[in-house]
Amino acid sequence: MLILGIESSCDETGVALVRLQGVALPTLLSHALYSQVAMHVAYGGVVPELASRDHIRRVIPLAREVLTTANQTLHDVDVVAYTRGPGLAGALLVGAGVACALGAALNKPVMGVHHLEGHLLSPFLSEDPPEFPFVALLVSGGHTQLMRVDGVGHYELLGETIDDAAGEAFDKSAKLMGLGYPGGPALSKLAEQGDPAAFKLPRPLLHSGTLDFSFAGLKTAVMIQAKKLGDDLEARKADLAASTEAAIVEVLLKKSLSALRETGLKRLVVAGGVGANQHLREQLNVACKRQGVRVHYPELHLCTDNGAMIAMAAAMRLQSDEGGMTQAQPRYSFDVKPRWPLTELV
Ligand code: KG4
Ligand code: ZN
Repeated sequence: MLILGIESSCDETGVALVRLQGVALPTLLSHALYSQVAMHVAYGGVVPELASRDHIRRVIPLAREVLTTANQTLHDVDVVAYTRGPGLAGALLVGAGVACALGAALNKPVMGVHHLEGHLLSPFLSEDPPEFPFVALLVSGGHTQLMRVDGVGHYELLGETIDDAAGEAFDKSAKLMGLGYPGGPALSKLAEQGDPAAFKLPRPLLHSGTLDFSFAGLKTAVMIQAKKLGDDLEARKADLAASTEAAIVEVLLKKSLSALRETGLKRLVVAGGVGANQHLREQLNVACKRQGVRVHYPELHLCTDNGAMIAMAAAMRLQSDEGGMTQAQPRYSFDVKPRWPLTELV
């Protein structure tokens, strides 16, 4: 069975083709991605209306590209999957509209996929896929959550951010330092040349005894520090970047270890854009090795938004559904869910 996946929740248009065969792990045949970063850079962040319009331009050529690469035609597609939410409403509507139109034209079932479930299951596309159950650290631009994952659709929220997401903390701090958008990779690159102990920045909720996060205060502390530095900011920017990264990474690391301790699980899956952060990966690898915990990551290029994770999540949902194709039906109307907690998924 071939599943075409379409991702358009934010500033990346992604399309992919995944093959589902029996009980084996679904395999990725091809995927293509167009990042709108260059377009949004001038505005210092994502402009929703521009994002929607650009998705319209990109999605069909990308779909053609993945079909050609995999040596398949539209008629070979058995299910069309798209990101139903959460994300930008207009951007989501593009993927949903195209997917449902394709489904109607081909008379094939269509599936709306949860974007975070896509991130969560993206490590199953790697050469070293995890096994259930595991603790998942979901760290993206909009979400920071720790989940207990017992299987596809069996997600228990252990803790989450009460304000900003980890990616947001990277992005907002980077903006304060004049590093532009998207801030995470830029801040992280600059941090390589800095001293992570140069500035004492807060580690919010580190000792709260819960698995919740808070990053809004950190951003304020970075702002105060940047103002204090004044003209010296330029010379000390790498140190401030390194100190900011160290604060975010320490909180993510300690809370992940607490979640593993509390659940007694020995497997950790890290997913979402911030999962691409090398410093976070190094620290998690060292700490988890010490505790006898296996850590799994998506491949680096599949950490940020992409179509492969959407096609994969749809394939794994179909595979886990013992009743067969009950979740995927031909549809002539559709909706999107800009706000959609993962725990509402069943
Ligand atoms: O998962 P994602 O592509 O989009 C959302 O669903 O939000 O994550 C994007 C986030 C952005 O905040 C970006 O700054 C952050 O991931 N990010 C990073 C790195 N690469 C991407 N943060 C820190 N270090 C990185 N290397
Ligand atoms: Zn994402």
